[in-house]
Amino acid sequence: MAGRVVGKVALVTGGASGIGRGCAERLAQEGATVVVTDLQDLKGDEALAAIAAAGGRAEYLHHDVTDEAAWVQVIGEVKARHGRLDILVNNAGVGLAGPVLEMSLETWRRQTAVNLDGVFLGVKHAIPLMRQSGGGSIINMSSVAGLKGSPGLAGYCATKGGVRLFTKAVALECAAAKDGIRVNSVHPGIIETPIWLTVAPTGTNEPPNLDAISEMVVPLGVKGVPLDIANGVLWLASDESRYVTGAELVIDGGLTLR
Ligand SMILES: NC(=O)c1ccc[n+]([C@@H]2O[C@H](COP(=O)([O-])OP(=O)(O)OC[C@H]3O[C@@H](n4cnc5c(N)ncnc54)[C@H](O)[C@@H]3O)[C@@H](O)[C@H]2O)c1
Repeated sequence: MAGRVVGKVALVTGGASGIGRGCAERLAQEGATVVVTDLQDLKGDEALAAIAAAGGRAEYLHHDVTDEAAWVQVIGEVKARHGRLDILVNNAGVGLAGPVLEMSLETWRRQTAVNLDGVFLGVKHAIPLMRQSGGGSIINMSSVAGLKGSPGLAGYCATKGGVRLFTKAVALECAAAKDGIRVNSVHPGIIETPIWLTVAPTGTNEPPNLDAISEMVVPLGVKGVPLDIANGVLWLASDESRYVTGAELVIDGGLTLR
């Protein structure tokens, strides 16, 4: 096993599926002890089994990122079990698509609760333990939809744009406190995960054809996979990125270049 994050304790929200699972597996592969949290307990167990089979160390906790009391409990659990927290990947998210005129306030709020409140609560409750640990790295999962507008995704864009600037403001607060905590955002393009089953405003029940879409709109011509994002997250989590804070790491095959 390689050791780019050996000895570090990582918490990955939404880690049972897609990009979060990819991040959890990659961090464990490089020596971190990974606490995977999610709402999907069965998929969480599957993620743990895969990590264990590869020789990594991981645990699973049921966790709703919109619930502040749950954050207090999860961070308390991490402290009790490991005594420290070095890496937080605020990854849990939902993509609720639809034209703005047809979006209910309830849907808007549900998406904001997961994608934006969840990131705020994670940052708020992880920083004290990270400070006690002597520093750390917080990685907030934004999107290319946090960099450019996209029709049918106005609510999603609002949350991801919010994550982008929230990240920069918190990065400055941590830098001013000289607490050794770096805070960065990651902006995936079209990555094949289950989120596309809900995000596509296709008007049909068919999931979008990511290969065909990517061939049309992605300069590199292909969709990405969770490992493409996990490799970027690993770098931000490791000390290799010690001089990087408040940055936005775009991993999109060139999608936002035009
Ligand atoms: N897949 C893409 O193309 C893409 C592109 C840009 C950004 N992203 C972002 O990447 C992140 C991961 O998405 P994904 O594509 O892997 O999707 P996914 O649906 O496979 O994974 C998201 C996970 O978040 C969990 N989750 C949802 N609500 C939660 C809550 N309230 N509390 C805890 N966990 C919750 C889900 O159960 C799921 O396991 C999201 O923030 C998403 O917005 C994805």
